[in-house]
Amino acid sequence: MPTDESPDSVTPDTPGGDDDVSRDAWSGVHRGPLRAGEWVRLTDSKGRRHNICLEPGKRFFSNRGHLDHDEIIGRDEGFTVVSSLNGEYLVFRPLLNEFVVSMPRGAAVVYPKDAAQIVAMADIFPGARVVEAGVGSGALTCSLLRAVGPTGRVSSYERREEFADVARRNVRQFFDGDHPAWELTVGDLAEALPTAAGDRRVDRVILDMLAPWECVDAVAGALVPGGLVCAYVATTTQLGRVVETLRAHGGFTEPQPWESLVRDWHVEGLAVRPGHRMSGHTGFLVTARRMSPGERPPAKRRRPAPGAYGVDYAGPRPIDLPPQVELEPFEE
Ligand SMILES: C[S@@+](CC[C@H](N)C(=O)[O-])C[C@H]1O[C@@H](n2cnc3c(N)ncnc32)[C@H](O)[C@@H]1O
Repeated sequence: MPTDESPDSVTPDTPGGDDDVSRDAWSGVHRGPLRAGEWVRLTDSKGRRHNICLEPGKRFFSNRGHLDHDEIIGRDEGFTVVSSLNGEYLVFRPLLNEFVVSMPRGAAVVYPKDAAQIVAMADIFPGARVVEAGVGSGALTCSLLRAVGPTGRVSSYERREEFADVARRNVRQFFDGDHPAWELTVGDLAEALPTAAGDRRVDRVILDMLAPWECVDAVAGALVPGGLVCAYVATTTQLGRVVETLRAHGGFTEPQPWESLVRDWHVEGLAVRPGHRMSGHTGFLVTARRMSPGERPPAKRRRPAPGAYGVDYAGPRPIDLPPQVELEPFEE
């Protein structure tokens, strides 16, 4: 039976009320009539977006005049409201992928196309224990918390206090409170993780930082056998370094690198063609599974490309490299 304080007993026009998504899900989503205190997104006819927090008696102003929040509060989302100078605005609650690209930023965010890849390919599941660094503006954190749910745990590390503050505000705003599965530590992952991990082994580690290869030993120490590390990097040089460091460690499966390109389409009668704008390069992703301690992945059957690890190569070397490979010239 719900008690007087339980989310099930609050009135329908209060967030968490009968008509709303259960507060216990910590989804960051509301349903039912728009309520005071909620964020909504107004989109004008040119696609310009304004996020406003609904307050009784308050007005939203733009170059198309003003409109009263009271005209919005109490209605079901998905309608058009007209301002005092005839500006039309579409009203919806922002989706997670819309929220993260419009929220205040400290550092660059992981874009929704990559957050979706990370959640799927790093296999983030309800109840998972996930470590993430750096937290930056908290965009990826929101997707990870959504995926692990209130029974999981996302332990985020960020070495810059000012970015951690931005992330705290963004994550709190999205989930409308302090998500019970989230803990945020200000510090360098490579130093903080070995101390923090202790007996608390984790299922997944997601690295979005300049030098993820510096954290490979700490990550190996924290992951359960079968656990997975996923790194997100912006450049090919970073990609090469993190892949080779994972290989050289020896306690991970062969790293799998990839990128995703997303193209929208224009569809209008007979004019059906790719859109002009494309979300092309954002970053590269790479995943690898943690072997059981002391176990090694099978030796590679294929020789490296000629010269790949020749005299000009200065990075980490795979542990099972045949000696003659070191002398080969590079072939393009
Ligand atoms: C690109 S941002 C992360 C963005 C974040 N994933 C998001 O979606 O909003 C990279 C962050 O990593 C932090 N960082 C870099 N190296 C770190 C380390 N070794 N430990 C913890 N944080 C680190 C930086 O301070 C920066 O805030």
